[in-house]
Amino acid sequence: MKPNIGIADSHMLEVAKLLNVLLADEFVLYAKTRNYHWNVTAPNFMELHKFFEAQYEELDEIMDSVAERIRQIGHYALGSLQSFAKETRLTEGQDETTASKMIASLLDDHETIIRQVRNEIDVVGNDHKDAGTADFLTGILKDHEKMAWMLRAHIN
Ligand SMILES: [Fe+2]
Repeated sequence: MKPNIGIADSHMLEVAKLLNVLLADEFVLYAKTRNYHWNVTAPNFMELHKFFEAQYEELDEIMDSVAERIRQIGHYALGSLQSFAKETRLTEGQDETTASKMIASLLDDHETIIRQVRNEIDVVGNDHKDAGTADFLTGILKDHEKMAWMLRAHIN
């Protein structure tokens, strides 16, 4: 049953498309962070191992909330690895071999998402009249800003 929440169908469709691309980005960044949790080697291995774990757990919650937001506006969330790989704006890249390259790669991805989401908050709120999703995306923006700060703090 279609939501009757005062947003035109065409606008909900556009917002859902945009959120599905974000979902793909979140999934790719989740997988990358989990990869680094497993494969990092460093003198402070245990610290980084746990740090990456805390970050992928947070990404797990974010992507769940993005998928559920898509359902709230009447559309289906992407759910296959193939579709995530196709839709994402991030590049998985090579397997990084050093902890500092891993941290730089994750930071770059978070900052890419932050720049895109910041722009989309205006598009969703102004062009598509979806104040709920604009507010939701503002929360996501702040979550990524915090994770980006924690990554950046590892770099001199
Ligand atoms: Fe683990």
